[in-house]
Order: sequence, then structure tokens, then C-alpha cells
Amino acid sequence: MGTAGTGTTTRARQAGTRSTTTPAAPAAPSTTTRDRTTEPPPRTAAAEPDSYTRRVSPSSPIRAARGVRDILPGERAAWALVERAARETALRHGYQEIETPVIEPVELIERGVGSDSDAGGKELYRLEPHGEQDGREAGEQRSRLVLRPEATAGIVRAYFEGGLNQGPQPVRLFTLGPMFRHDRPQAGRFRQFYQFDVEVIGDPSAAYDAEVIEVSWGWLAGLGLEGLTLDLNSIGDHTCRPAYLERLREYYGPLRDRLHPDCQRRFEENPLRLLDCKEARCQPFKAGAPKITDHLCAPCAAAFEEVKSLLDAAGLEYRLDPFLVRGLDYYTRTVFEIQHEALGGAQNALGGGGRYDGLAAALGCPDTPGVGFAGGIDRVVTVLEGERGTVQPAAAADLVVLPMDEGLDRAAAQVGRLGRQAVPTAVDYSRRSLKAKMRSADRAGARRVAIMNSDEAARQVVQLRNLVTGEQSEVSWDDLPGALR
Ligand code: HAM
Repeated sequence: MGTAGTGTTTRARQAGTRSTTTPAAPAAPSTTTRDRTTEPPPRTAAAEPDSYTRRVSPSSPIRAARGVRDILPGERAAWALVERAARETALRHGYQEIETPVIEPVELIERGVGSDSDAGGKELYRLEPHGEQDGREAGEQRSRLVLRPEATAGIVRAYFEGGLNQGPQPVRLFTLGPMFRHDRPQAGRFRQFYQFDVEVIGDPSAAYDAEVIEVSWGWLAGLGLEGLTLDLNSIGDHTCRPAYLERLREYYGPLRDRLHPDCQRRFEENPLRLLDCKEARCQPFKAGAPKITDHLCAPCAAAFEEVKSLLDAAGLEYRLDPFLVRGLDYYTRTVFEIQHEALGGAQNALGGGGRYDGLAAALGCPDTPGVGFAGGIDRVVTVLEGERGTVQPAAAADLVVLPMDEGLDRAAAQVGRLGRQAVPTAVDYSRRSLKAKMRSADRAGARRVAIMNSDEAARQVVQLRNLVTGEQSEVSWDDLPGALR
């Protein structure tokens, strides 16, 4: 699978201009349709101009936006495998599926994920307000909308909005779906990517931290992946973290001018993220920085011990990484990431998560603890195929019905219905030769074809041919489902 970055570099673009011409489109039947085809794609405030201003002319077909891609049927098999494993793992552990919208109010993300974080700040896809009347008509307060960069804040919102906080606690939830971050596209990093997300909301026990780790690890190990590593840390809470941050500032203060400019900014805005720095020039400083695990308050230290001992009991090996802080602002106490050796480093985890006991309150909801994890499906598919080779997609149809003469569409459709009682069945209605139809069915991976001329259609029989063995026999329509089973 190529990366979106490389895939788009050769595409024709005309930065800075917006074309309103339409590429060799068929004549539009109505004004409404024509408007839709000629309108340029919606513009988002954070999008780069070149994402949607590429040249549109009959000689350059419209391509996907930069940093996004299609998952074609040939690749979908691996995705389906990964998603099925995710769903089965979650359901087996008693998690229930939830869907939340991909558009959310900007405040949810800015207050939840944090407007200082990359995902909740500069990488956020902001939608343009949709016209003055929007919201007003319904008497609602107008809210700016964004494309969700992650699922946790939306799920916590839904937990309260949907009254899940009123039922038995904690509530175990999972979701699978697309997320959006306007980052620079590169290997393993897309602007639309897919996550498997699990959350346990409503109980502060550290045992749930360990459970979430076990679920995430179980998903990946259950796929047969090797080369996985679990990194673990605690980043304290509102009681112990402020004092630790003070120590961090004291330590980094005299070094400030020697830090990378990004880290100079982090020093001001979010010193914990100094520990996340990957710049070579900052590494020697980082190595000597105070470790948060040496400065945890007693309850945070006890919770961390509990998580570790539960992971030990589960036989899960982990690496303690005192510099693991994660990129989103809402975490308290446990944070973890699962790496894969093929992805090359901490910027490219397969997944990560942690506890977020302050998130609900930050969203204006009653103070409620939670812990969760999200895995990047795009990356899991890549490493899975790297380890196991391409996952072969199943053939679209096991049986293809091949009418030989004109005027047999109705009979062929009926045979198709009968075939479908037993196996996935398609009908080739094209006006090609039988030879061409047979070749096409074979190339599409069908195992059998049901051939029928006008005489056979009148007698309600087909010639059922096995494309693998070459065996062929006449079968009546009525007997077809049985013969296929
Ligand atoms: P995150 O670490 O931001 O955490 O994302 C989780 C995973 O999503 C990453 O480890 C990576 O595999 C994948 N991912 C993130 N950005 C991209 C991208 N641009 N392209 C491809 N894959 C990507 C969260 O999102 C938290 N909500 C996790 C969580 C749930 N914490 C508590 N509950």
C-alpha cells in the first residue's frame, strides 16, 4: 500500500487558484445536479490551498484530496480482518458498540483534547459555518463544527447526553470509524485514518486501566502480530503534576535557549510535552530531566503499582518509559502505547491510550473518571500485511451465471436468485462472447459458472461448470441450490 504522501506528489495542481469548470461531466439533468457537480469541494479553514485547488480539466481527472485514500476491494479483506478481530475482542470483553458523529462542536475538541495539542489545535479540520440561518431557525446557539480528530471526547459527550451515566457503571464502549487530522502526510500518517477505540467510563479503579491494556493487546496479539511492545508510564494527576511541572521548568529553564524552537514553545505552553521531543539536540537534556514517576502523589503511585501488578498477573510484558506523555491533553495517571518494530519509533505507535479522569469535567459534565485506548487500523493493516503477506480477498462471487443468447436477462436473473440461496452469485449480463465471459469469471475468482442458451432457458436447466476441475453437468434450476452446496 503506497502512502498518501507519495501518491499525490505527481498529481497536477494549480496552487492558489480555484477552478469552477467541470471535467467532461455528462450533461446534468437538472439545475440542482449541475450545481453539485460544478461546485468546488467545501473549503475548511485549516486545509492547505492545494488540497482542493488542483487543476480541473478534461485531461486531468479529479483525484482524491491530499493525505486521504481509497481502500479498494483488494485491500479491504485485510481491513475486514482487522475490524472483525477488533469487534470480536471488544464484545468478548463485554464492551458495547457506539457510533458518534464525525462532526462535533469545536469546543468539545478544544476543551477535551486541548487546543494546545496538535490534534486539537493546528491539525483540526474546522468546517466553515453553513450560512447565517443555520441553527438560528431551530433556535439553537450556533456552534462552529470540526471533523473529529479522535473519538474519546465525543464518546464521553454521548455518555452524558444519552443518559448512559444513569445506568450501571462503569460503561464499556467501543467504536470503529474515521478520524481526521490535518498533519503532513507521510508513511503511516493520513489525514483521514481509522481507529478502533475502547473506553471504560464511570469508575476510577486501576483495574480498568489494566483491562483496557489487555483488550488492546489481545486485539493485536490475537491477529497473530509479533514484534509488539507495550510502553507504560504514569503522568500523575491534578494533585501531583503541578509540582512536577514546576520542577521540570526549573530544570529546563537554564537550558531554554539551547532547545529546539518547538521545545522553547512547549516550555511556555505545555512543559510536559518537552518529554515527547524527538529532536536530536534536545535528547541529552531530556535524559537528565526529572522523572514524573519519582514525583507521584501516594494515590497515583498506588494506582500505578496496581496497574503494573495486574499486567504482571496477566503475563503482559511492558517497558517502563518515564518520558511517555502522549500527545493529547486529557490524560491523568496511566498512559501507554503499543509499538511495532516495523513502524520505527514512538511517532508511529500502533495504538495508545490512558486514563482521563479530568475530561468529563473539562467538557462541563459531572466529574467522572474514564480510561481508554485507540488503535490505528491503517497502521495495523500495514504491519499485518508486512508480517503475513497480502490478505487475499474472497472472490466477489462463487458462481457466475452466463446467459449465451440475447433476451435471456430475465431467466439469468432468476437463476442468479436460485444460486444465491447457496453461494454468492453474480450474473454477467454483458453482450460479450461466452469465451470472454468465462475468462472474466475465472479472473474474478469464481469457482463455477452456470451457462445457459435459449433452449436451456426454455427447459429451465443450466450447464454447471466447475472452473477448477473443468467438470460440467446439466442441472435443473430447481436442483441448482442443492448442487451448489
Ligand atoms: P492517539 O495516540 O492520538 O490516541 O491515536 C491512537 C492511534 O491512532 C495512534 O497510535 C495511531 O496508530 C493512530 N493514528 C493517529 N493519528 C494518525 C494518522 N494521522 N494517520 C494514521 N494513524 C493515526 C487517541 O486518539 C486517543 N483518543 C486514544 C484514547 C482513547 N485515549 C483514551 N481513550
